[in-house]
Amino acid sequence: MQSRSLKTKTVTVFIIILYCVSFTFAFLLSIWFNHYYFVSRKKQYDMQAKVLVKRYVKTLKNDNYDSRKRLHDDTILVGSYVDADVFITDNMGYVSTESNPKFKNIEFQNFMAPDIEELRQGQSIEKKGAYKDVFKEDMYIYMRPAMDNGMFKGAVAIFTPISQMRLELAKIYSLIWSLAVLIGMAGSYLMYYFTKKIITGPLDEINKAATKISKGEVERRVYLKCNNEINELAEAFNSMADSLEKVEKNRREFISNVSHELRSPITSIKGFIGGILDGVIPRDKENYYLSITYEEIQRLTRLVNDLLDLSAMEAGKFTLSITEVDVNEIIRLCVIKFETRINEKKLKVDVVLEDEHLYVFGDRDRLIQIVTNILDNAVKYVNEGGNIKISTRTRSDKVLVSIFNDGPQIPDEDLKNIWERFYKSDKSRTSKQSTGLGLPIIRNILTQLGQDIWVENGKKYGVTFYFTLKKV
Ligand SMILES: Nc1ncnc2c1ncn2[C@@H]1O[C@H](COP(=O)(O)OP(=O)(O)OP(=O)(O)O)[C@@H](O)[C@H]1O
Ligand SMILES: [Mg+2]
Repeated sequence: MQSRSLKTKTVTVFIIILYCVSFTFAFLLSIWFNHYYFVSRKKQYDMQAKVLVKRYVKTLKNDNYDSRKRLHDDTILVGSYVDADVFITDNMGYVSTESNPKFKNIEFQNFMAPDIEELRQGQSIEKKGAYKDVFKEDMYIYMRPAMDNGMFKGAVAIFTPISQMRLELAKIYSLIWSLAVLIGMAGSYLMYYFTKKIITGPLDEINKAATKISKGEVERRVYLKCNNEINELAEAFNSMADSLEKVEKNRREFISNVSHELRSPITSIKGFIGGILDGVIPRDKENYYLSITYEEIQRLTRLVNDLLDLSAMEAGKFTLSITEVDVNEIIRLCVIKFETRINEKKLKVDVVLEDEHLYVFGDRDRLIQIVTNILDNAVKYVNEGGNIKISTRTRSDKVLVSIFNDGPQIPDEDLKNIWERFYKSDKSRTSKQSTGLGLPIIRNILTQLGQDIWVENGKKYGVTFYFTLKKV
């Protein structure tokens, strides 16, 4: 809708400008042509009058029937040549010869009395609309005196009705003005065509794509053949659509991952409890299955808590209560928590802490969550009887914590992905205890603390996770 009004506005403004210009041009051309027409008429009349003046002077010198007849014939000839009427008068202003018999009745009349003085001086006269009583209509008259040795002998007058001249001029005017209208129309069409092709057409394309995307067709893109700002707009639009598509894809993946992770514990809980209620599971085994069910419920609780944490972090609603915390104490605490699992897997754990106490700024519970998560991964992914090494070190105003475990490395192509929600690198090894939420959560916490976390594969074997904390 908007582009249509843009097109209308652009085209209207252009048409108005175009018509103003072409009409002004036509107006000036008409004025110029009017002037040119009379100038050229005058020139033509003057040349013909000159010829007749010569003949007239000759006739006066050799006055006989033949020469008078020749003068009369020449007058008729000139009259038909310039398409006008011609008179020749004597030095008193009486008409002696005329080209048109229609004017016979005014022959020998002193009809140019008002102008005779000027003519006597040898000056030609050009007049519009004089002698109305003689001609009964407005005439264009040109008079040239016949001088012989400085003596005034008479005059040649050529005249045309102005209405006839106007008719001729009108033809030219109508040509000029039709041309102006035609140029206006052609220009308007061209403007309409190019506005549509260059501006509104492409904008419509983008508009259509935007509508489709808003209706869920996120894979929709705009392809334009032009190379201007609108194309840049289309490219910006496409890259926006790319990120929209990515967000949409993430959203779908997230939902399907969450549903999947929720479904498996619920299915097993439902199966075991159903079995107990139906009596399919023998009474003496009930406790065993209930304990598995309990574990599943714990897993579900952890998953839901993780998801709540993540969504709170992503919504920016996750607040930390920062205090001074002894990171060494937290590490000792966490290692004790994992004692059973460490003994089960026969692991050798090496803890190398700098100083007795190492105070950092942080949220105690969240720091425990961070160390627990990394240690949980280390215990989970290390080989039976393998090694784990935890160390703290101070570097200027920061404390660097590193947690190493030997065992399989993280493939290079996965190093980036392990920070994504639900990403599990080694799918065969990851037990059903895994959801792939641990690392994204701790990275979010550390980012909020303004700190870094990264991972490095060892030279030959093993993986080390590093993170920094702000020293007190
Ligand atoms: N110490 C490690 N050694 C080898 N691979 C690791 C290690 N820590 C993490 N990974 C890889 O990174 C992936 C993501 O780890 P993350 O802690 O986010 O998820 P998880 O441990 O699979 O599940 P969760 O922590 O939610 O129970 C793991 O699935 C694993 O493939
Ligand atoms: Mg983990």
